[in-house]
Amino acid sequence: MVTTLTLTEEILELKQQRKAILLAHHYQDPEIQEIADSIGDSLELARAAQKFDGEVIAFCGVRFMAETAKALNPHRTVVLPDMNAGCSLVDSCPVEGVRAFKRRNPEYVVVSYVNTSLEVKAESDLICTSRNAVAVVNSIPADKPILFLPDINLGNYVQQQTGRKNMKIWQGACIVHATFPGRRLAAARSEHPNALVAAHPECPREVLHMADFIGSTSAIIDWCAHQQADEFIIMTESGVRYSLEKLAPGKKFYFVANENCNCSECPYMKLNTLEKLRDALINLNPRIELPAELMERARLPIERMLAVK
Ligand code: 13P
Ligand code: SF4
Repeated sequence: MVTTLTLTEEILELKQQRKAILLAHHYQDPEIQEIADSIGDSLELARAAQKFDGEVIAFCGVRFMAETAKALNPHRTVVLPDMNAGCSLVDSCPVEGVRAFKRRNPEYVVVSYVNTSLEVKAESDLICTSRNAVAVVNSIPADKPILFLPDINLGNYVQQQTGRKNMKIWQGACIVHATFPGRRLAAARSEHPNALVAAHPECPREVLHMADFIGSTSAIIDWCAHQQADEFIIMTESGVRYSLEKLAPGKKFYFVANENCNCSECPYMKLNTLEKLRDALINLNPRIELPAELMERARLPIERMLAVK
């Protein structure tokens, strides 16, 4: 009797054959999150990649995340189901601009958000994620001037939280979060007056002003699960609904459409599909290939990021 495997069964079998781990960001489609070994925000996934001792990392997220995993695992194979899964923040910050700034301002400490290319990471003194950006900036002596890049909204938020005056901020933005308009959040609050608001720090200032909680994707999920309230307006990518509904069944979650796509989805994250993941595990391609010397230079600031709680 011939049995046909479902796509999911095929992936799980390939995963075993390849001694692979499947890492999925919270913004992936639910069918990908369902079969992942780890689901997380970018810091948690970098930590999972750092601990991995198998052969293949199948990274369901965007390219900068897969590059970080590769820099931490230079001798392992890292596949990304769709190599076009980029990020508008990475695109907003070409390495030449960072090098030019450093030449003109050698006294600055460069703090890069993890949403940057590996070339930019290699030019950085410290890397942070949305989870530990405030702690990373606070770890730098007060008299040292800082260049924070590339996200203007996260930079403004960190500056306001740390009270740091000597901090220049790059002008990059996320096409998903930066285009959530304050007026749409205000309308959602009028419609759901009992709902609490949780926002990602990549959102604009007027959105963050209305938030009851600001944090990374995993921090938002965790916070909502532990609140007494049972209605929430979630100002981030709608893929977080998967874990929210798992961890907080019975609670209600409302999402606000942005002005970029009139939705709350990251078009880059959604390029990954189960079919592309299956093919990536069969072909070990598309895979992340990076110069050894670049990974070496980027690893130190990445490891410093992983050391900050
Ligand atoms: P997190 O670090 O919160 O996962 O954010 C990554 C990201 O790309 C948010 O848009
Ligand atoms: Fe980049 Fe924004 Fe997509 Fe996150 S949501 S990967 S910051 S474009």
